Amino acid sequence: MKLEFVSIVATFALFRSVFGVKRELFKTCEQNGFCHRNRHLANAISNKHGSYSSPYSVDETSIRISEEVSAIEGSIMKKLPNGKAVELPFTIEVLKSDNIRLTIDEKERSDPKSLRVADKRFKSRRFNEASKYALKGEPEISVNAKLTKESITDKSTGEKYLSIIYGDESEYEAQITLSPFKITVYYHGQPEIILNDRNFFNIEHWRTQDQQASELSPEETDYGTFKDEFKDSQGDHLPFGPESIGVDVSFIGYDKVFGIPEHADTFSLKDTTNDDPYRLFNVDIFEYETQSKFPMYGSIPFMVAQKKSATAGLFWINAADTYVDIKKGSPAQSNPDQIVLTSEKSTKTHWFSEAGILDLIIMVDKSPLAINKKYGELSGNPELPQLFTLGYHQCRWNYNDVDDVLDVSEKFDNFEIPYDVIWLDIEYTENKKYFTWKKGLFDDHVEMNKKLAETGRNLVAIIDPHIKTDYQVSNDIEKQGLGIKNSDNDDTYHGHCWPGESVWIDTFNPKSKAYWNKLFANNTDFSGDETNLHIWNDMSEPSVFSGPETTAPKDIVHYGGWEHRSVHNAYGLTFHEATYDAMSKRYVNKRPFILTRAYYAGSQRSAAMWSGDNKSKWEFLKISLPMALTSQVVGMPFTGSDVGGFFGDPSSELLTRWYQAGIWYPFFRGHAHIDSKRREPYIAGEPYTSIMRDAIRLRYSLLPVFYTGFHHASITNAPIITPLFYSNPENEDCYEIEDEFFVADSGLLVKPVTQEGATSVSIYIPDEKPYFDYHTHELIQGKGSHDLQAELEQIPILMQGGHIFSRKDRYRRSSKLMKYDPYTLVVALDEEGSAKGSLYIDDGETFDYKKDDDFVYVDFAIKDNKLQSSVNVGKQTPFTELLDKVKVEKIIIVGKDISFSSSAKVSQNGENWEAETIGINNNAFIIRNPAVAINKSWTIELN
Ligand SMILES: *[C@@H]1O[C@H](CO)[C@@H](O)[C@H](O)[C@H]1NC(C)=O
Ligand SMILES: *[C@@H]1O[C@H](CO)[C@@H](O)[C@H](O)[C@H]1NC(C)=O
Ligand SMILES: *[C@@H]1O[C@H](CO)[C@@H](O)[C@H](O)[C@H]1NC(C)=O
Repeated sequence: MKLEFVSIVATFALFRSVFGVKRELFKTCEQNGFCHRNRHLANAISNKHGSYSSPYSVDETSIRISEEVSAIEGSIMKKLPNGKAVELPFTIEVLKSDNIRLTIDEKERSDPKSLRVADKRFKSRRFNEASKYALKGEPEISVNAKLTKESITDKSTGEKYLSIIYGDESEYEAQITLSPFKITVYYHGQPEIILNDRNFFNIEHWRTQDQQASELSPEETDYGTFKDEFKDSQGDHLPFGPESIGVDVSFIGYDKVFGIPEHADTFSLKDTTNDDPYRLFNVDIFEYETQSKFPMYGSIPFMVAQKKSATAGLFWINAADTYVDIKKGSPAQSNPDQIVLTSEKSTKTHWFSEAGILDLIIMVDKSPLAINKKYGELSGNPELPQLFTLGYHQCRWNYNDVDDVLDVSEKFDNFEIPYDVIWLDIEYTENKKYFTWKKGLFDDHVEMNKKLAETGRNLVAIIDPHIKTDYQVSNDIEKQGLGIKNSDNDDTYHGHCWPGESVWIDTFNPKSKAYWNKLFANNTDFSGDETNLHIWNDMSEPSVFSGPETTAPKDIVHYGGWEHRSVHNAYGLTFHEATYDAMSKRYVNKRPFILTRAYYAGSQRSAAMWSGDNKSKWEFLKISLPMALTSQVVGMPFTGSDVGGFFGDPSSELLTRWYQAGIWYPFFRGHAHIDSKRREPYIAGEPYTSIMRDAIRLRYSLLPVFYTGFHHASITNAPIITPLFYSNPENEDCYEIEDEFFVADSGLLVKPVTQEGATSVSIYIPDEKPYFDYHTHELIQGKGSHDLQAELEQIPILMQGGHIFSRKDRYRRSSKLMKYDPYTLVVALDEEGSAKGSLYIDDGETFDYKKDDDFVYVDFAIKDNKLQSSVNVGKQTPFTELLDKVKVEKIIIVGKDISFSSSAKVSQNGENWEAETIGINNNAFIIRNPAVAINKSWTIELN
């Protein structure tokens, strides 16, 4: 959902342009103390053109090297202008899979005796638990790293450094320069990443306001160190004063960088020299603009850099307000003070966060897929969702009552449009009290859900973290101390959101989670014993209408004595994890489905995400594609945007094009604002309704492709919609392409139409392989742009030669009813007449695939006119045996110069038979009803 139609905002909107409202409510970098200071410092250092001398160096006597745990420990000393020094303990570890992790803390703050903050409710130490949320567990340590025993002196520069050589073939080296502190990571002898290349490394040490003047260097400013100048933040106590951390990171020879969502911006990130940096700070950014570096609902502080020979990743593990500055260009154009190691183009970045320890992981590998895998090993792969979640979701703010819900459901069936899930936004509740249902309108909600279940449908109901004051749930939260607390006393913090005055459940507190669990249990006020109820967690940034920048004040207090400032970006994750936990207890052996708006690194382990409150405009349809691609790069692939746009009324043409694009979003949901007209796909009338129905049916026929894609993602963190450079990392021309993509590894290349009135599109083909039009099988070949017809009823889709994928072509009302439907195999041959593919099948609902190996994995391959299926994983269970009755009903073989045309000899399970074929027609050879069972291997010889 939603724009906050809080009266203040609405009043602003009346008198100011939308642009004005935004600038008023959100801080610019200039206005945000730590951003202002870190940029100021970086500019001052750059302006000194190399004559700046960094105050940070490693104390050589402090170094402890342990080969056993692949780690170097020691202290960096920060020299202050008054002669004092600040001790900053660091650890550099080599992790399994050849990643380097650096953490830097501040000695004085980690010593409990040195507590200087008067308020004992705060922990004095820097927040060091972001990794608890961003990582799936403690990362394993490398077993093959070779660490120098002592420092080495570089003969040419005289600099001392420590060296770590790692990787199976010793292909990596990390050099840690002692003074000034710097890390350079080499891969196959080439420098790839340099930390503190430009000397922007900065740890704002603990000081009092009185000490500050003598402890600031001439390059620093005291702007906002002890008071927040931003008008809505006057109340921020800044109990720790300035405490930001920052460092610059140069990607050597890398021209393009991606990731660090969420921004409504291009896929390939832009230079920020003459703009604000990209900001990562979860906020309810209603009325947002496209092409903007403004923060949005979620944050994943992970950046990926791509060049021909390698891919690099930087994972910045910090949950506080964070910015990233990006400077592009060849060394010749860049500042002369910068250390230049190669003549190639490079991207120089500068990262800083408002609080917390410095904790980051550096990855380099040969391909983007390898970096996805490394990220997944650390942060966790996306969980395999229930199959129904990949069907179509119908939402609006709001469906009014039980009859309305059942009426919409029936209309889908009347128009033979499949759908799986209907959604209820906030109005289903009694006065926006979550866990209640509006009296008179939703009394029969349990029966309603059971009725939906009869056709395999599910219901998703919204539950937000703001809890209206003065009813059972908020009373419990206040009485039991389960809410976020005030900054200046131990009472529960109160603010405003949808219900008016509210409290916020503090899901960092294990007791809050236990309480949350109970609310979702069977047979309570909230629900009966139905098993098709799922949850939407919205407004979880958290959105606080009365708060600074529409969110929680930074100095309110969470469980464990942490300031909200330090944990902000992880709050939404703890909230949806609490809901996930509750739902996994409610449904003992069922994969919970949770949709979240706010997210953080790690959210992929338990939630899907959507991109928030879109406008019904062409530019928002367009920007939804790069945003979805960015999510694939940062390991949060289960994402989509509101089909049709959230605000406003799309034209029938825009709505139709949005469905044709939306069927490719991993998460496919139509949604609309309360003031928008009804726009379920059957409303527009002909020809639109039929075109939208065909698009939705195409999604359903390709569910085996999406589900197999999610299976792979759950193991290797592979994308669901795949940016072109993933399959063509050597082709620099395709790095920035953001309006087309492959679907998982099926070879389907799609370019949705996002232009009003278009009747054709130009599609870019990234390689020399043969491609075939999805519908006509026409051959299109040659690297470069090709024009494709794209009348309103046409979606530009090509099949890349070399792939085999599976479909289920029969119309059913929901995915559940398709469970035992037969398959159609589509084979697209490459130049050699070969192709490969795979299909993953399980019960689509439970964890039995994990617990009992209850699944079937089929590899398909064709070579030398022999098509083969090998069932090679899983084991025999009652479910996989049932799959014996699931047959392949059709095989479509598409190719350039097909060398068979008459017969198809089938063999399965020791039996042989001849299948009916249709000779070659327009590049395609069709086998009718080969009647092979999907759960055991077979071969088909073609002649
Ligand atoms: C809730 O009800 C479902 C369906 O009856 C049942 O499978 C599940 O075990 C119940 N959960 C609990 C916690 O009782
Ligand atoms: C529109 O689209 C993007 C992605 O599709 C989404 O994240 C964002 O919240 C939407 N924009 C607006 C103004 O609602
Ligand atoms: C497929 O079903 C048949 C017949 O029930 C059974 O013999 C076979 O083992 C099944 N295959 C798998 C992988 O379970």
